[in-house]
Amino acid sequence: MSRQYHLTTFGCQMNEHDSERMQGMLESLGYSQATERAAADLILFNTCSIREKADERFIAHLHEARALKRRRPETVIGVGGCWAQSVKEEVFRRFPFVDVAFGPGQMHKLAEFLTSDSIGAQGYFEFESFTGDLPVKRAREFQGWLQISVGCNCVCSYCIVPSTRGREVSRDPAVLIAEAQRLAADGVTEVTLLGQNVNSYGRDLPHPQRLSFAQLLSAVDSVDGIRRIRYTSPHPKDMREDVIRAHAELPALCEHIHLPLQSGSSAVLKRMRRTYTRERYLDRVALIRELVPDCALTTDIIVGFPGETEEDFQQTLEVAEEVGYDGAFTFIYSPRRGTEAAEIDQQIPHEVKVERLERLVDVVQRRAAEQAQRFVGRTLEVLVEGPSRTDPSRLRGRSRHNKVVNFDGLGNPGEYVDVEITGATSQTLTGEMSLVARAG
Ligand code: SAH
Ligand code: SF4
Ligand code: F3S
Repeated sequence: MSRQYHLTTFGCQMNEHDSERMQGMLESLGYSQATERAAADLILFNTCSIREKADERFIAHLHEARALKRRRPETVIGVGGCWAQSVKEEVFRRFPFVDVAFGPGQMHKLAEFLTSDSIGAQGYFEFESFTGDLPVKRAREFQGWLQISVGCNCVCSYCIVPSTRGREVSRDPAVLIAEAQRLAADGVTEVTLLGQNVNSYGRDLPHPQRLSFAQLLSAVDSVDGIRRIRYTSPHPKDMREDVIRAHAELPALCEHIHLPLQSGSSAVLKRMRRTYTRERYLDRVALIRELVPDCALTTDIIVGFPGETEEDFQQTLEVAEEVGYDGAFTFIYSPRRGTEAAEIDQQIPHEVKVERLERLVDVVQRRAAEQAQRFVGRTLEVLVEGPSRTDPSRLRGRSRHNKVVNFDGLGNPGEYVDVEITGATSQTLTGEMSLVARAG
């Protein structure tokens, strides 16, 4: 029987995509996927370190892996991703049972390790540009990621990512377009462009091959078979009019923008080193509303950044109220090792952070529920993903606005259907499939 691997992925889409590439690579080495961790010869983790909770969750899993290895000492334990990168060789001191550790996007080194005769523990932590051209095992046939850049050149004072993913490197547009064509030929109709700061794409490329982010979107839009384009995440400081216009002009580019706010207070934004003010952010939102009136807007917000006063927090509530996001990821500030903000004296007590988070969530949910009412009575194109999570007799899919839609109807995963929206909450829409069949 072939050797079996078990992989657990934590963190963002970047990690999910890296994991798909890791799985593709392992299967090309002859490994197959184990149904449970206890059955695996190779136990792998693709880790995240964005907040302390992420670390804690992973460490609990790692201890379980150690227990399995005690019973079966030949089991190989591998730890990849951002947590591994942030602790580097220390991983082997703290967790001596780990056999191999590697930073994000260094899966090819894992292959090297697995195919060599080396027996000692190995760590691979140097930064490289995108280690492309690994086979990918996609989670869904009809949805694909396209990683357009690696790393991040921003210096957001709370964020560990620049130290785990290195400097920003854009991938060659010709390679990306070829990859998009390959995805389309493979049956992918929805592609999500990935990067830490997607709209700074291309600035580091040499002139003859340089494309701006808006031009890249347009090039992907022209790929036959791609019906939906999404991207994450743009940075408000780099949100130019050409990108916003593209949402109105390119047929495949979805009516949804995830525009991370982080804080509604210019003073806090300054200490976060976000390099935009509340006014500049709201100005971007106004331009989006003007050029793409129906565009859904989502965001990320951090509460309890060091020194955040009640007045600062009030300003975040105001922006959330004023913008009326269709959804938001809200986080309690978590000090990260090696970051500038972790060194600031005025850390906010945990109870205050929790209380602010609750107040923020109330505003976000109320506004999201209000905004969602605009869809009721409309017919939306929905990409079917599978059965509804709450009621398997119904279907679940997503609208172009990235709203989850639960509906009655027939359809296979990957099909586009028209759904008449009959109800809306802050999180999901409900509806019924239109009886008139849609072509294509
Ligand atoms: N590059 C992306 C995503 C970064 S991580 C971007 O800039 O949008 C995703 C989100 O996690 C961030 O937007 C931020 O809201 C949150 N985050 C990052 N570091 C954090 C920390 N130390 N504590 C709490 N939330 C954090
Ligand atoms: Fe982190 Fe800021 Fe870069 Fe996003 S843009 S990854 S928040 S440093
Ligand atoms: Fe993503 Fe977590 Fe790394 S959010 S970039 S996997 S620290």
